[in-house]
Amino acid sequence: MAEDLTIITSADKTAQYQSLIPQIEALITGEEDMIANLANICAALKEQFKWFWVGFYLVKNNELVLGPFQGPVACTRIAMGKGVCGVAWQQAETLIVPDVDEFPGHIACSSFSRSEIVLPLFNGSEVIGVLDVDSEHIAHFDEVDKQYLKQVVELVKFG
Ligand code: SME
Repeated sequence: MAEDLTIITSADKTAQYQSLIPQIEALITGEEDMIANLANICAALKEQFKWFWVGFYLVKNNELVLGPFQGPVACTRIAMGKGVCGVAWQQAETLIVPDVDEFPGHIACSSFSRSEIVLPLFNGSEVIGVLDVDSEHIAHFDEVDKQYLKQVVELVKFG
């Protein structure tokens, strides 16, 4: 497997996802270690999209605990129902937050973060973690991100 990614800079977001997702699939196929795969997924997403922060929180002992990520240091533990991540976990739903200041209970790991998208990771019907992406721009994420990031989290195999 070649480890270099082909990064699309000129096309729109949809084309960028469509170029990147097969590369992510190739990157993690054949590797069974989930942490290794989550780490490479973060690196690939960060390299393509240059988001402020992208990473995973994993459910451990009924808390979300920080997993592989790319970006500045972040809070390590999030309770169920707390912050965007904790609510996405509790509701087992993707949340798009256009302005984090308008989200009650948002956990500000960084004052630079202005908008956010959080997707649950499922093992069957059980939420076993979340993918969290933060931007320093207001309203940075939309249904396109939701559609393609869902494909990304569905690539991850657990166990
Ligand atoms: N803002 C998140 C916390 C995680 S950091 O953004 C990396 C939240 O409200 O759940």
